[in-house]
Amino acid sequence: MARTVLVTGGLGFIGSHIVDACVARGDRVFSVDDLSTGKREHANPDAPNFEVDIRNTEALEGVFRKTLPEVIFHCAARARIQPSFADPDLYFSVNVLGTRNILELAKRYGVRRIVYSGSSTAYGDRDTLPLREDMALSPQALSPYASSKRMGEMLMKDRGILTDGPETVCIRYFNVHGPRQTTIADGAYATVIGIFLDQLKNSEPLTIVPDGHRRRDFTWIGDAVAGNLLAAESSKVGSGEIINLGTGRNYSIWEVACHVCGLPNTTPPDELLKTGKCIWAPPRRGEAKATLADISRARELLGWAPRMRLEDGIAELKKGI
Ligand SMILES: NC(=O)c1ccc[n+]([C@@H]2O[C@H](COP(=O)([O-])OP(=O)(O)OC[C@H]3O[C@@H](n4cnc5c(N)ncnc54)[C@H](O)[C@@H]3O)[C@@H](O)[C@H]2O)c1
Repeated sequence: MARTVLVTGGLGFIGSHIVDACVARGDRVFSVDDLSTGKREHANPDAPNFEVDIRNTEALEGVFRKTLPEVIFHCAARARIQPSFADPDLYFSVNVLGTRNILELAKRYGVRRIVYSGSSTAYGDRDTLPLREDMALSPQALSPYASSKRMGEMLMKDRGILTDGPETVCIRYFNVHGPRQTTIADGAYATVIGIFLDQLKNSEPLTIVPDGHRRRDFTWIGDAVAGNLLAAESSKVGSGEIINLGTGRNYSIWEVACHVCGLPNTTPPDELLKTGKCIWAPPRRGEAKATLADISRARELLGWAPRMRLEDGIAELKKGI
């Protein structure tokens, strides 16, 4: 059954793939993206984009009036940890107040469901793994970005229920990777696999942040999109449920570097450095020691399972360089 769908952040990495998937299944699809980090080349010709800032309530209402969406995939956000330290107010205004605007207008225009793009950064730094959605939030967020994404989730749950608003469901992504991910050209917005692949392409050493032993659960973009589509339809959700989308396996940044360089992932860090294929990068703050998703809730409530392993995803991406 075709639906009318609005994807916020529809010219960004994850949003543009959701747009493509919805267009491919025959939905009427619109995007709202102010191009602050999104890219025109990600636009799908069958999904008009409204170049509107989600903080601009009046312009955003115009989008709702013209499109009358049934489902919203809310991906628009300032979406990276490091730049949030320099401008926490920007992160608060886009990720929290912008999300409030989406909720308010969704209620006014009778949207059935919002699927919120949340983040595994909401967990903070935990000693207990895997990360389960029913864990209490850590007392302190690690960055203004993480803080804003936690607040967005709370709004989705509380406002949705307390004000008889739309149904809501909150996805917590774990390091999504795939085509259109950010690259070195995106500066502080670049993510680790995008940076490594660029460096490989340019025959430069891979820059590893000290303590490459940090571990991450990496999710393929196709799997993240599939989770969103299921979350929009599942009859088992709609009350602000938080759902991890990860793989249930994590990798150290060293191992990721080995996969990118085509070396055995058992290569000890010292040897990897000696090959000259990797060097140290400046340290960064605000990042957890390790992430690892418990994905039983996604299986149970969405009937979702990840299909792509990190090794295969990297191999797929290397074909393009
Ligand atoms: N990529 C990941 O691994 C990851 C992990 C956890 C959470 N997330 C979340 O997923 C969502 C999408 O992330 P992404 O990686 O695709 O990032 P992205 O930066 O590629 O996409 C975000 C999009 O939102 C748009 N945008 C930003 N501010 C806006 C505003 N004020 N008004 C309208 N549009 C605006 C940007 O132009 C961009 O196209 C974000 O909410 C992010 O917090 C992503």
